[in-house]
Amino acid sequence: MEHVNLNYQNYAAFDRDEIIKQMKKLLKKERLEHCLRVEATAIELAHENGADETVAGLAGLVHDYAKQRSKDDFETLIKQDHLDPELLKYGRAIWHGYVGYLMVQRELGINDARILRAVKYHTIGAAVMDVYAQIVYMADYIEPERNFAGIDEARQLTHKKLWDGVVYQNAQTMKRLVGNQQAIYPAAIVAYNAISAGQQ
Ligand SMILES: [Fe+2]
Ligand SMILES: [Fe+2]
Repeated sequence: MEHVNLNYQNYAAFDRDEIIKQMKKLLKKERLEHCLRVEATAIELAHENGADETVAGLAGLVHDYAKQRSKDDFETLIKQDHLDPELLKYGRAIWHGYVGYLMVQRELGINDARILRAVKYHTIGAAVMDVYAQIVYMADYIEPERNFAGIDEARQLTHKKLWDGVVYQNAQTMKRLVGNQQAIYPAAIVAYNAISAGQQ
């Protein structure tokens, strides 16, 4: 990703190199590399969809910024900010996006609502997803190192029509959670009803 030359400083307190430096301290190498691939894929999807590549690229880069923060960090933030107490019953899979966007905002000085929403919703989706939320949701799912049954279909759908990719991923994720009898955070069900169950 050496060719990325986007001016993230218009949207953050730091430039791209400094953001990556900070992420290196918080994330394992593999996780950071995933973030760089999501950044690249988000830029590609922004290009295909006539969206702003800088906004999409930065959102993709920082989407997993909070992925390896401690349980304590999240619980403290949920309580201090009086977020939905129901969140405490879940774990990092939900928190790193749904709560982690606040760390992105406060620690990286990113205040653009499109970027913050894309980070917040990248795991569970939302009833209303703008193009940036859709891009990051899908870039995370189809970045080049992803490999699972259905990845080819997911990539094809996404490149043909971004929203169809969103619908596909959302249905797959819900099927998996239900199949594993895992609890589903209520906001994810609201998102599912809007995205996959035809209420949008
Ligand atoms: Fe994530
Ligand atoms: Fe991710």
